[in-house]
Amino acid sequence: MSENLKNILEEWKGLEEEYQQLQETHRMYLKKLDELSKLQNNCSSSISRQRTRLKEISQLVKKSSKGSSEEDARILDEIKEKIKIRPNAFFQMEAFLPKKNSLYLSLVLGNVNVTLFNKQSKFAYKDEYEKFKLCLTVLLLLFSFICYFFVSYRFSDVILNFLLVWYYCTLTIRESILITNGSRIKGWWVFHHYISAVLSSVMLTWPEGNLYHMFRNQFLAYSLYQSFVQCLQCYYQSGCLYRLRALGERHNMDLTVEGFQSWMWKGLTFLLPFLFFGHFWQLFNGLSLFRMAQLPECKEWQVPVCGLCFLILFAGNFFTTVAVVRQKLKTRNQKPKSL
Ligand code: COA
Repeated sequence: MSENLKNILEEWKGLEEEYQQLQETHRMYLKKLDELSKLQNNCSSSISRQRTRLKEISQLVKKSSKGSSEEDARILDEIKEKIKIRPNAFFQMEAFLPKKNSLYLSLVLGNVNVTLFNKQSKFAYKDEYEKFKLCLTVLLLLFSFICYFFVSYRFSDVILNFLLVWYYCTLTIRESILITNGSRIKGWWVFHHYISAVLSSVMLTWPEGNLYHMFRNQFLAYSLYQSFVQCLQCYYQSGCLYRLRALGERHNMDLTVEGFQSWMWKGLTFLLPFLFFGHFWQLFNGLSLFRMAQLPECKEWQVPVCGLCFLILFAGNFFTTVAVVRQKLKTRNQKPKSL
């Protein structure tokens, strides 16, 4: 046997051994995957069973509360308190279990699993979402700036509006994935992005004319301001995310949360005036468009539809932001040492 063939055979033997090992590891991996999916099914069905039984027991507790002795009432109150916090525990458990996609996600992505199974990947996804928002917002800021100050072509406005439509549609998908993974984004912010996508698409179809030019600069200035506020908001929200990650736990934290809270309040009090100013600008845009719709030369349906979108955006943003701030103030006053 030639020296060359000997070398090849030796190399091949080593490779074969490694391949056998790889096969064994892969077999174990498949077995564990199988076990994992059984455990996931177990947990999911156990959670739904618990939910039904919890509903039944809370009805029983409600019935028994009437006319019970003092001692019994105390025990029932304790059970009631425990029942109250269970749904939250289920919600946190479900964030790590596969679940059926929402209608929107199944329409857009089909029936693909979008649950991320560990905290690091959830944080990484959220982090990437914030970065994506920031990059696109800076791009939109630059684009609105150029359209406002330098170029006044319908074509450049179309590109800006198309970018806005694409941006908001993408956000709705990413946010639905975040919600599946346990994010507490309020439904309004997702709905806000749907309305904004509708608004930008209607702007896209608004034919050029006197009325379009009357509103163009106001809209571009508003886009510029909104992108600026969104940059501040991204900075605040990724700051919250980094600090929460540094604290280790997302929804279950100890004393060190005080540092986070003071940072959060500083950020929020800085941000709020800008946010409220933006909301009133939306109201102003809505009212201007409705006034425009009453002009005799106004034939475009886009004018009242955009006006309506702005009014909905104003009302939703304003009331949700007030509710968020009230809720945060209440939590701070109730539990000064925990979140
Ligand atoms: N868009 C997307 N996600 C949002 C959001 C928004 N506008 N507001 C809050 N969230 C997310 C948070 O990131 C958090 O997610 P997590 O559970 O994955 O960590 C979750 O919702 C809960 O956040 P919450 O604690 O209620 O609020 P916050 O401290 O993160 O932010 C505000 C509070 C007021 C700064 C924020 O809601 C906001 O910027 N609102 C105003 C938006 C607006 O009006 N835009 C128009 C400007 S002209």
